[in-house]
Amino acid sequence: MNDAGILKAPVWSGVGTSRAHESAALHVLGQATYTDDIPEVQGTLHAALGLSSKAHAHIVAIDLAPVRASAGVVAVYTVDDIPGTNDCGPIIHDDPIFAPGLVQYVGQPIFIVVADTHDNARRAARLARVTYDELPAILTPQAARAAQSYVLPPMRLARGDSEAAFARAPHKVQGELYVGGQEQFYLEGQIAYAIPKEDQGMLVLTSTQHPSEMQHVVAHALGLHSHHVVVECRRMGGGFGGKESQSALWCAAAAIAAARLKRPVKLRADRDDDMLVTGKRHCFHYEYEVGYDDTGAIVAARVDMVTRAGYSADLSGPVATRAVCHFDNTYYLSDVEIRAACGKTNTQSNTAFRGFGGPQGAIAIEYVLDEIARNLGRDALDIRRINYYGTVDRNVTPYGQVVVDNVIGALTDELEATSDYRARRQQIDLFNATSPVLKKGLAFTPVKFGIAFNVTHLNQAGALVHVYVDGSILVNHGGTEMGQGINTKVMQVVAHELGVDMVHVRATATDTSKVANTSATAASTGADLNGKAAQDAARQIRDRLAAYAVKLYGGEPEAVRFAFDTVYVNGHAVPFPELVQKAYLARTQLWSDGYYATPGLSWDPKTMSGRPFSYFAYGAAVAEVVVDTLTGEWKLLRADALYDAGRSLNPAIDIGQVEGAFIQGMGWLTTEELWWNDGGKLMTHAPSTYKIPGVSDCPEDFRVRLFDNGNVEDSIHRSKAVGEPPLLLPFSVFFAIRDAISAVGDHQINPPLNAPATSEEILKAVTEVLAR
Ligand code: MTE
Ligand code: HPA
Ligand code: MOS
Repeated sequence: MNDAGILKAPVWSGVGTSRAHESAALHVLGQATYTDDIPEVQGTLHAALGLSSKAHAHIVAIDLAPVRASAGVVAVYTVDDIPGTNDCGPIIHDDPIFAPGLVQYVGQPIFIVVADTHDNARRAARLARVTYDELPAILTPQAARAAQSYVLPPMRLARGDSEAAFARAPHKVQGELYVGGQEQFYLEGQIAYAIPKEDQGMLVLTSTQHPSEMQHVVAHALGLHSHHVVVECRRMGGGFGGKESQSALWCAAAAIAAARLKRPVKLRADRDDDMLVTGKRHCFHYEYEVGYDDTGAIVAARVDMVTRAGYSADLSGPVATRAVCHFDNTYYLSDVEIRAACGKTNTQSNTAFRGFGGPQGAIAIEYVLDEIARNLGRDALDIRRINYYGTVDRNVTPYGQVVVDNVIGALTDELEATSDYRARRQQIDLFNATSPVLKKGLAFTPVKFGIAFNVTHLNQAGALVHVYVDGSILVNHGGTEMGQGINTKVMQVVAHELGVDMVHVRATATDTSKVANTSATAASTGADLNGKAAQDAARQIRDRLAAYAVKLYGGEPEAVRFAFDTVYVNGHAVPFPELVQKAYLARTQLWSDGYYATPGLSWDPKTMSGRPFSYFAYGAAVAEVVVDTLTGEWKLLRADALYDAGRSLNPAIDIGQVEGAFIQGMGWLTTEELWWNDGGKLMTHAPSTYKIPGVSDCPEDFRVRLFDNGNVEDSIHRSKAVGEPPLLLPFSVFFAIRDAISAVGDHQINPPLNAPATSEEILKAVTEVLAR
């Protein structure tokens, strides 16, 4: 950008305003560069992975001759060709890059084939002749539990004396629930482009939420040090958790081939391969038992969850921990026992997905509250409210964190009023009384979501801010852009600190050679952590500029103001670029690093207690559906959502996040069904068989608003995270569907409804209600 460009558009707009996403124009013009769009280096080759066709088997023999003989093939590499360690696991090192003689799921990579073109590589990959000696396979979490087959030791969190509390409880509900997994379905698939550099160096351009981990994995796989490897990611076409750890396989495989051949190698996953190879949201099976009194207040609760971790641990431990820490959702549970186990199954290794176990923990208690309400013949909102956390007492979570920022009561009041909940409940009852086939349903569900990585040391971030002599500003931070708007928010923060309009700030690709030892952009903490780090960097530059301005114009450094692209000092108004230029000539450092570590966090994994979260984000939603009880088809008629983004950094982006998360969560709970055949092959591995929501599934009447509420924690400008928590808002859709089904039995029977509530599942539930 030239000087003229910098001085145009002098509209003041810093933090808290609805600025467009930094790449909005590029996105809509098709000019945003994703990894596959980066112009290829001369000599680039293309790779594909050869995959296991068995769920669990020893590889007896493998004949790669037909692969090597295939058109355009340059090389084929297996486990024997890895220069370093055959591992790409993020925590527990149980994730081979290439199967070491044992395959543990259908889709597990066995080799990589490198060819002149992408198509030739894919064609060749299918030609391997592998002889397997099959072993018994475990495919479901329930089967894993029966076999005591776990990737990690089971976990337990307990408070109080649930035994005694159950004995006292006047009423009880108990039952089982299954909630399926979910494919991340990022629009841009997994991709890594490895380019060898001099003296063993390796540059990896990739689509990842975690450049630093990719750097470590590539270094280990190549037997090198971290300083040999540079990983860069300008943006992702969505990650949704699927690129937190599982971009590693693609980076490692491409880098191994590139290092062996000393030529650039690009490995881009076709959609079917992407879905066959990579892990998804963890499905959960629950067995629950809850005691309650005549008012509907829960007095005792017990839940035993088992999840399908897949063949390796990946992030299943932290996911299960977050599930355990979100079973309470917005409810105070005095006497409670929560168990969770990560079932080892012969399926893809399940991984992070927006919410990271939180949604899976919270939906179980919501299912129970829904049943208690029906058993008592009360409106479910009233039962939920009775059980809400208090503000001065009944405010300690089962893991010992005090809920100091509880706003769920006020938020509920507001949404109950603006959604016209009570009147619509009456209208729906009237409608259902005269409509035998079409039944309407309504549900109000609340959300409380803990913000911070539940692994304490990950809560840190770094940034670099450069102010160039022309007054333009470049920011680089450890977070990654996946469409969520982190760059826009960080740019706003930097612009605000230096008192310039955001048009003067540009964000660069995330690059491990610029900011070191970064955490994944995950746990919704991206803007919180990197925003603070960038603020720290920008403040240091501002302080130096202020000190210099005072030297020049007099006055006190504390009284210098940076605003409207101008520096106000001792009665002078100096254009920002002018002061910058003068400061440079006077030899002032105009760039700075910045760092942030979230204070006050603690976690003891053994006792499952501490203060794992910096604060809680709250929200609630009301959904109204109509269900055709003869076909199981349904439609979301209206959705109202209210979300606590604190003092929002950018309301437009935050509302977009809430809308996106709502629809994505609705897909998880309704139409997105993962289905493995008896041989353990995922059969739903393309959009033709796996139904994500389309634009016509969005409600015509969709009212999303932000709840006006500053964060009590000293977060970046008192904002709150927004990336994941709204994924829990469409619980309201699931329970509205259940409410509509329940109308078939005049709300006397709890419909047994698992997720996803596909049309088949809905019809099954209707049939069961009619049969009772
Ligand atoms: N929004 C878009 N458009 N694309 C994504 O991939 N990922 C979600 C959420 N919103 C995602 C998204 C997930 S899983 C997380 S953890 C957060 O964004 C991460 O970004 P943040 O921490 O900067 O909010
Ligand atoms: N979210 C996402 N990734 C993580 C987390 C989390 O809470 N903890 C460890 N890795
Ligand atoms: Mo998000 S699941 O923490 O990447």
